[in-house]
Amino acid sequence: MEKKNIDWSNIGFGYVKTDKRYVSNFKDGAWDQGVLTEDDTVVISECAGVLQYAQTIFEGLKAYTTEDGRIVCFRPDLNASRLADSARRLEMPVFPEDRFIEAVVETVKANEAYVPPYGSGATLYIRPYMFGSNPVIGVKPASEYQFRVFTTPVGPYFKGGAKPITIKVSDFDRAAPHGTGHIKAGLNYAMSLHAIVTAHAEGYDENMYLDAGTRTKVEETGGANFLFVTKDGKVVTPKSSSILPSITRRSLMYVAKEYLGLETEEREVFLSELDDFAECGLCGTAAVISPVGKIVDHGREICFASGMEKMGPVTQKLYDTLTGIQMGRLEAPEGWIKEIV
Ligand code: PLP
Ligand code: COI
Repeated sequence: MEKKNIDWSNIGFGYVKTDKRYVSNFKDGAWDQGVLTEDDTVVISECAGVLQYAQTIFEGLKAYTTEDGRIVCFRPDLNASRLADSARRLEMPVFPEDRFIEAVVETVKANEAYVPPYGSGATLYIRPYMFGSNPVIGVKPASEYQFRVFTTPVGPYFKGGAKPITIKVSDFDRAAPHGTGHIKAGLNYAMSLHAIVTAHAEGYDENMYLDAGTRTKVEETGGANFLFVTKDGKVVTPKSSSILPSITRRSLMYVAKEYLGLETEEREVFLSELDDFAECGLCGTAAVISPVGKIVDHGREICFASGMEKMGPVTQKLYDTLTGIQMGRLEAPEGWIKEIV
């Protein structure tokens, strides 16, 4: 397979139109059989549920070229079940989980020429999503939906790749208690846009959101979960019912314990205890693990011992092990790697 002429090592996290995408429509209570198409446009009613009441959900995962030249993706079954959870919360029909995996596999295969080569630092980002497509004017769920999957080659989410970033404790909340923070709904991202534009304008790379109920506990950023390392090497992640259950974070906690022999803990993490940690990182499909050098809480600076130059030693080991599993350098736990080509 001849690859596209792309400067793989220098691409950022942006959209590049690839050749094929998958589309399936839900009408009269059933999903059609789905097709791959070259048409990258969507034509829907001006009154579609997604346009009026933001009835849209999505997923994000990546395809990797392994060291021995295979193309694989990472735990797509967990994306399938999380999309199903998101659908149920927004009163949308579930796209069958086995068909989700087939659609991902077919779409990646059809865009094989865009899967970045091993060692380039880039990957193929896969974006499955679903939205209400028929007219809705009273506030109620749509009755027709479209499920789509497109792909785009991407580089690092944060400019500078593995360079530690600076984070602001946001004055805005991301998710309400008992709201939609635990699902991947477009609405969660729409309401984070003003906060991220504000943070960028003030010179920060990202926001740390706090729990909206008490504003004392760490939740997550706009697109990744937090991971902390204590001074004695324990890996800690915030536990909350209003953060997205990150597949990367769940995988890293397993890797920390089973591959690296580290102690792990998922618990409430208070803003007041951040000084006690030695390392901090953001984890997610797009972020992989991005090291955090500094967190600023209204003038109070929390500077991690790992500094602003490179990842801390435990974060680095976690990064190397996770990416080693994803790129086939290390043996993966049963069921984690889905072979595509
Ligand atoms: N938190 C939010 C708000 C996200 O958008 C994402 C990205 O998907 C994550 C966390 C990380 O989740 P995952 O590791 O499943 O990509
Ligand atoms: C992902 O990591 O897949 C996401 O959806 C995060 C988004 C901010 C790009």
